[in-house]
Amino acid sequence: MEIEKVGVAGCGLMGSGIVEVSAKAGFDVVVRETDEGALAAGRARVSKSLDRAVAKGKLDAAARDGALARIAYTTSLDAFGDRDMVIEAIVESLSAKNELFGYLDGVCPEGTIFASNTSSLTVTDMAAATSRPDRFVGLHFFNPVPVMKLVEVVRTIVTSQETFDAARDFAERVGKVPVAARDNSGFVVNLLLVPYLLDAIRQLERGVATVEDIDTAMTLGCGYPMGPLTLGDFVGLDTLLHVAEIMYDEYREERYAAPPLLKRLVAMGRYGRKTGAGFYEWTPSGPVALKT
Ligand code: CAA
Ligand code: NAD
Repeated sequence: MEIEKVGVAGCGLMGSGIVEVSAKAGFDVVVRETDEGALAAGRARVSKSLDRAVAKGKLDAAARDGALARIAYTTSLDAFGDRDMVIEAIVESLSAKNELFGYLDGVCPEGTIFASNTSSLTVTDMAAATSRPDRFVGLHFFNPVPVMKLVEVVRTIVTSQETFDAARDFAERVGKVPVAARDNSGFVVNLLLVPYLLDAIRQLERGVATVEDIDTAMTLGCGYPMGPLTLGDFVGLDTLLHVAEIMYDEYREERYAAPPLLKRLVAMGRYGRKTGAGFYEWTPSGPVALKT
């Protein structure tokens, strides 16, 4: 099962990265957003990231232009009718994902592989709602997609070996290192990372240290590339809240419970870098930490 034509649903933070690495690797890509505004924002994100790679000397201009020419942007789901694989990177909500896959089940040929980039839902819960659970797999990329080398390839109890192999092969062809993960909520990385991010927010709530000092402590004390509150702003606090609620619902363990401060920030529209503010205000002159 050789993948050549890829569909990507969602062109936000993750979808735009998946589009970029796929097109750079030579795949023919169709990407779908919900409306023209979101589509234009996604297209700008892909172009900006490719331009940045050219400016840094990591990609030549001809390769960028070749990649851009392999991407078609649409708001129509019917454009996925000739795809070998569709990768979903829309909002972290089971009902939204199932509605999408339910529709695509009727549009895509029997052989099309469905893949989800979910952070915390189980692949089984999506696969079971389609007529092709054996051709359904998890492909979990990491943010920022062009930089992070890992992809978790997730197999349910009914994912066929052929589907799993095709997904793993795809991950390698876009330059990533695949690891096989079981279909439990959070797979490998988020099972460990999400409690850490939520704990950092709890320590902030308890007044253990300021936003900046928590981040500085974990950066300089543990050698992490960024502190947990900065990372939360990069992931998106709306996404982190969805993920925490899904994982808490699954495991009923306190370490996955969303801290009240996270809920309040999301209620105020402070989703992190993507909306300009989260634990920090992302100003042109640099991040300014929230005073708590
Ligand atoms: N797109 C493309 N390239 C980017 C980029 C982006 N958004 N951000 C940074 N880069 C590239 C830079 O061009 C640079 O490349 P070169 O070294 O070749 O020049 C390199 O990454 C390093 O960038 P910077 O020097 O600007 O900044 P940095 O050293 O602080 O690195 C970082 C940035 C790679 C994001 C680093 O801070 C990091 O690794 N942070 C942690 C990221 C992380 O943990 N991600 C996982 C999030 S959890 C998740 O994804 C799962 C989930 O389900 C929620
Ligand atoms: P995002 O909010 O940046 O982007 C989601 C995009 O999906 C939006 O642009 C939205 O308009 C679009 N969308 C919503 N419904 C759609 C539909 N039916 N069809 C097409 N597009 C639709 O979110 P994100 O951070 O890119 O996350 C996307 C998925 O990837 C989520 O499942 C998330 O859990 C997962 N994920 C996120 C990260 C991260 O660090 N942010 C890392 C790995 C995985």
